[in-house]
Amino acid sequence: MKLLNRLLVAAAGALALAAPGLAAEKAKEPEAHTWSWEGPFGQYDQAELQRGFQVYQQVCASCHALEYMSFRNLGEEGGPFFDPEYPNPNDNPVVRAIAADYMIVDGPDEFGEMFEREGRPADRFPSPFPNENAAAAANGGAVPPNLSLIVKARTGGAEYIRSLMLGYDYPVPEDVTVRPGQYYNPYFPGGVLAMPPQLMEGLVEYADGTEATPEQMAHDVTAFLAWAAEPHMEARKSLGFMVMIYLLIVCVLVWLAYRQVWSRVHH
Ligand code: HEC
Repeated sequence: MKLLNRLLVAAAGALALAAPGLAAEKAKEPEAHTWSWEGPFGQYDQAELQRGFQVYQQVCASCHALEYMSFRNLGEEGGPFFDPEYPNPNDNPVVRAIAADYMIVDGPDEFGEMFEREGRPADRFPSPFPNENAAAAANGGAVPPNLSLIVKARTGGAEYIRSLMLGYDYPVPEDVTVRPGQYYNPYFPGGVLAMPPQLMEGLVEYADGTEATPEQMAHDVTAFLAWAAEPHMEARKSLGFMVMIYLLIVCVLVWLAYRQVWSRVHH
């Protein structure tokens, strides 16, 4: 009897292991999309980043952390709230106001107690859950991943994230089982995930008056996450451009020198 039990458990285990593998093959190709930062001269669009931050803050932040990111990053050059008047983001009033909206656990104080205080620009974004177990318990066993590097961490990058956010309206194929607390989304490897559909029409009220359609919010929040994953892209591109110009000038100089040096040699 014991042996039979063991065999059954082993078979169930093998099935569980095989199932995501089988289904993973069917993940739908992310939809192609145009982004402002593509190409050698592409830059982030600041209005887009601001709207994307608003979506992150009002919708995604209740489940997803933005580890490694500090409030002050929002006000750095290329970031959503960069203002040339405040080259030091710690002085940027928008950044200070955003930080002050958060309560940060600090300490220990002189009595050894932890205490809460208003956020400051140098603080990191606090995580929505105290630890992974709490995050899993609140989300049907799946931990919502940290979003600060997600655009770099997933094959398909920004296109995948956007398609995933908009990909909940597909009929569930017959061979896919969706258990309670799970949702079907053909873009997700395996097709079934624990994140409920997020982007409903008019979910946020954009500060700049843009209409908050699901497509608009998916585009904006993905742009924000792309910036979060590579905040120094603009600096990198402009450095690359300067290096190219420098090399071009050096090339011309070397060529002129070459002509000069060989001009007196008769062939
Ligand atoms: C109610 C909680 C909740 C909210 C709100 C939420 N998510 Fe999620 N999200 C999850 C969970 C749970 C997972 C893990 C799903 C899994 O692995 O089954 C997840 C996974 C993800 C993933 C990773 C998918 C992958 O390939 O592994 C991305 C990207 C994501 N969420 C983006 C967002 C964005 C953007 C928002 C805001 C618009 C958002 N989420 C809001 C719970 C949430």
